Amino acid sequence: MPGKFKVTVVGAGNIGGTVALHLAMRNLADVVLVDIVEGLPQGKALDILESGPIIRFDSNVVGTNDYEDTAGSDLAIITSGKPRQPGMSRDDLLNDNQEIVSSVTEQLVQHSPDCTIIVVANPLDAMCHVAFETSGFPRERVVGMAGILDTARYRTFIAQELRVSVREVFALVLGGHGDNMVPLPSMATVSGRSITDLLPQDRVDAIVQRTRQGGGEIVELLGSGSAFYAPAAAIVEMADTILLDQKRILPCATYLQGEYGINDLFVGVPVKLGAGGVEEVIELDLTNDELADLENSANDVRNMVEVLHS
Ligand code: LAC
Repeated sequence: MPGKFKVTVVGAGNIGGTVALHLAMRNLADVVLVDIVEGLPQGKALDILESGPIIRFDSNVVGTNDYEDTAGSDLAIITSGKPRQPGMSRDDLLNDNQEIVSSVTEQLVQHSPDCTIIVVANPLDAMCHVAFETSGFPRERVVGMAGILDTARYRTFIAQELRVSVREVFALVLGGHGDNMVPLPSMATVSGRSITDLLPQDRVDAIVQRTRQGGGEIVELLGSGSAFYAPAAAIVEMADTILLDQKRILPCATYLQGEYGINDLFVGVPVKLGAGGVEEVIELDLTNDELADLENSANDVRNMVEVLHS
């Protein structure tokens, strides 16, 4: 039987710690939790490891401040960076997190030149650019987590409104991970029926708007820091798909080269995720309005990338 995979989680904050726990519980990979703060990754990793005898996993979980311990990882998840505080937009984090993500990426790829990178730091799409450019990896191996999270929020609100299980709701949110993200009402269905047929327009609009502000809603409620349970679940879904070569089709931030008429930008669209990372970009047949919304959202990403390069 082949050995376990090795996954590095960069950043031992709320998202990193939760991801490390989920991964360990899946018994699929040994986990290295790395952070610059001394003691924090070691403490969280040991605490997670000590839950193994009770939960019954034997994944190894190590905390460290040294990237040498991350060597030979199959997958690296970059959660480090400052989170949003109330009143802040994700874009306010641009400069601080650019520095953090580029330094982290450099150290990661030095020790794991063949890994796939999942980027989680905000502003998400711009941070994907930083990791992509710093790593020099092909586009297949740098992918951002946002669409699964935004779609999960959208599905939650639709399920609440229609009083059905979230499992019956299929939906899709495309675009950048910002206020102009594109929740698609026409593709949001419950047992095959579109929500545009099931709900009045004003309720659809309200759900779309709440989805766009879903991250901000949590930031305001928490009062300090941003969401982590749903983001961590979304990351683990991507990790599973990549490690187990499941070839699931999920909305993720990927580097577009002409797809959807967008060039050289990370934008959220459905992709096939497998052992090769982003194995295919799926091009949906969107209406002109939906394409215009996607372009509008992509323009927000373009503006941020221009600031990165200025
Ligand atoms: C959110 C942050 C993680 O959407 O971007 O909650």
